[in-house]
Amino acid sequence: MTENNNADGRVAAAPVNAAPVSEAMVEEILQKHREKHDALHMVLQDLHKLAGWVPDNAVYQIAEGLNLAPAVVFDMIAYYPLFKPAPEGKYKISICLGTTCYLRGSARILERCCRELNIEPGHITPDGKFSLEIVRCLGACALSASITINDVVYPRVEPDKIPAILKSLE
Ligand code: FES
Repeated sequence: MTENNNADGRVAAAPVNAAPVSEAMVEEILQKHREKHDALHMVLQDLHKLAGWVPDNAVYQIAEGLNLAPAVVFDMIAYYPLFKPAPEGKYKISICLGTTCYLRGSARILERCCRELNIEPGHITPDGKFSLEIVRCLGACALSASITINDVVYPRVEPDKIPAILKSLE
């Protein structure tokens, strides 16, 4: 993990390749949108444009700045896939747990990915190389169980294929 040391000292630690999010950065965005009707959405959008993710400390600052409960901000992030609670890795791995893929064993694919990368879904490896997310359908049901890595579809994946797939990315 890298850590930015701004003057205010309150900066979210970020994996390498991910932009750190400073309190000053969030405050500047809040100033721009605070009075707007859909301020929360606009603040999150701007923060994403700048940093690509919304760390927990930014969520609390945004909630305070807009006079909202933190749960409202967390809910907004959870609802819109565009907003990420963690930065994406160089390789973004999306595991489909939609019905078709699930019936063909995608939960075991997810388990294997977690084990190989030593991270949970929604997280990124400390070197910034891999991030893991769960999706509900990739639009490739005929190829299930399928995963994507940076939007490239890997068809008919089985758990035992995961180590070779990851190695091919090194
Ligand atoms: S359910 Fe997995 S691609 Fe559609």
